[in-house]
Amino acid sequence: MTPGLEFLEVLPSEEWAGRVAADLVACLRANPRLRLCLPTGDTPAPVYMSLVDALARGEASLGQATILLLDEYVGLPADDPARCDARLRRELIDRVDPPPMAFHPVRVDESAPEEAAADLDAIAADGLDLTLLGLGANGHVGMNEPGSTADSPTRVIPLTEPTREVATERYGARRAPVAGITLGLDRILASRQVWLLVTGERKAEVLARALLGPEDPGCPASFLRRHPRLRVIADEPAATALDSTR
Ligand code: PGA
Repeated sequence: MTPGLEFLEVLPSEEWAGRVAADLVACLRANPRLRLCLPTGDTPAPVYMSLVDALARGEASLGQATILLLDEYVGLPADDPARCDARLRRELIDRVDPPPMAFHPVRVDESAPEEAAADLDAIAADGLDLTLLGLGANGHVGMNEPGSTADSPTRVIPLTEPTREVATERYGARRAPVAGITLGLDRILASRQVWLLVTGERKAEVLARALLGPEDPGCPASFLRRHPRLRVIADEPAATALDSTR
């Protein structure tokens, strides 16, 4: 364990997703009524695949759990391949039986963006047991883009160029979204537990910045270190820049 980084766990790439899924199963067994906030993206996708398998084997159930979506694009039609709600349904929600007791997507189709953000915030205000996060190459968590601070609220936020590019180039958005709705860092930090999931060498530098640099709105993930029950669960390639600075 690295001094000062007691919250960091580094796992071999081939074990990473299975271990995170196993930990989620353990949480669900300990508290079947878990209130869970979940991200989408390439990082959590293999975790969901592994979790679906574990749930199919009867190791735990989402049947009494509540799932809240961490963030969503504004202005993408419901059938856009990059939509976060559709992706979480595809990768997890629609693949488990029983389904979660409640799934709260961000209501971007039914409501004005500010109203949808307020709805998301109200659901989170009822309390979150566990929030999972990916890490953006620009240091964002959820869509708390650079400039966000520990007390940033749930809100509509303009997206930075790298985030817009990821939406079109990696997630297949038909047009680049200009804004998103994200759970605020304030609510993320109020979640009982936070797990930051980080994989791949291309995240190595930003992970080092988030964990070793000063708290910095330029790298909003750096504020997560304030959380008393933070776990950073990285694979070995993502942790390479931490090694070189030890
Ligand atoms: P990724 O995205 O998991 O697809 O790399 C992470 C993020 O930008 O939050």
